[in-house]
Amino acid sequence: LTVLALWGVIGYLMGSIPFGMVVARVLGLGNLRNIGSGNIGATNVLRTGNKLGAAATLILDGGKGAVAVLLARAMAGEDAAQLAGLAAFAGHCYPVWLAFRGGKGVATFLGIMLALAWPVGIACCLSWLVAAAATRISSMAAIYMAALSTIWMVFLGYRELFVLGIVLTLFIFLRHAANIRRLRDGTEPKIGQK
Ligand code: G3P
Repeated sequence: LTVLALWGVIGYLMGSIPFGMVVARVLGLGNLRNIGSGNIGATNVLRTGNKLGAAATLILDGGKGAVAVLLARAMAGEDAAQLAGLAAFAGHCYPVWLAFRGGKGVATFLGIMLALAWPVGIACCLSWLVAAAATRISSMAAIYMAALSTIWMVFLGYRELFVLGIVLTLFIFLRHAANIRRLRDGTEPKIGQK
């Protein structure tokens, strides 16, 4: 149990690094809180017009989830890997450093899934891409992807991820509450728009 708790803490600390803010600071893109949705994710970094910064944020936010899972799996097994993934996601969405006002978990979720079960991760990435190509709206793609993720888990034979998948999907929906309101009102911007 103490080993699991340890991986929970390590996963949380890794997930809580707000790479979007770090990237924006390093590249001199301004304060993300004053840009677009105010979110710390890659979609909002893209609203600064800096594609490289957005790509770096996506990779780093995904990477921290993946690395947390892979480290935990290598050192403590599959249960620890799932817990580290959950904790990394929680760290990203509720980082203690930003008074628990973190991101929406999409990139981190994709990284976690790629590391836990790569076929599910690939299916989720493709789901996001297809939905994004069709709608041109990042939050809409995230909602489609999250909704489909548990279906992919069952379909591709990873039922052991189902509970984790449901929990993460619910949190992705919760974190997109403001986006869902804007989608309903027809005011949600397309990818790259302010
Ligand atoms: O990854 C978050 C994305 O789904 C929405 O971001 O900035 O449009 O709220 P944003």
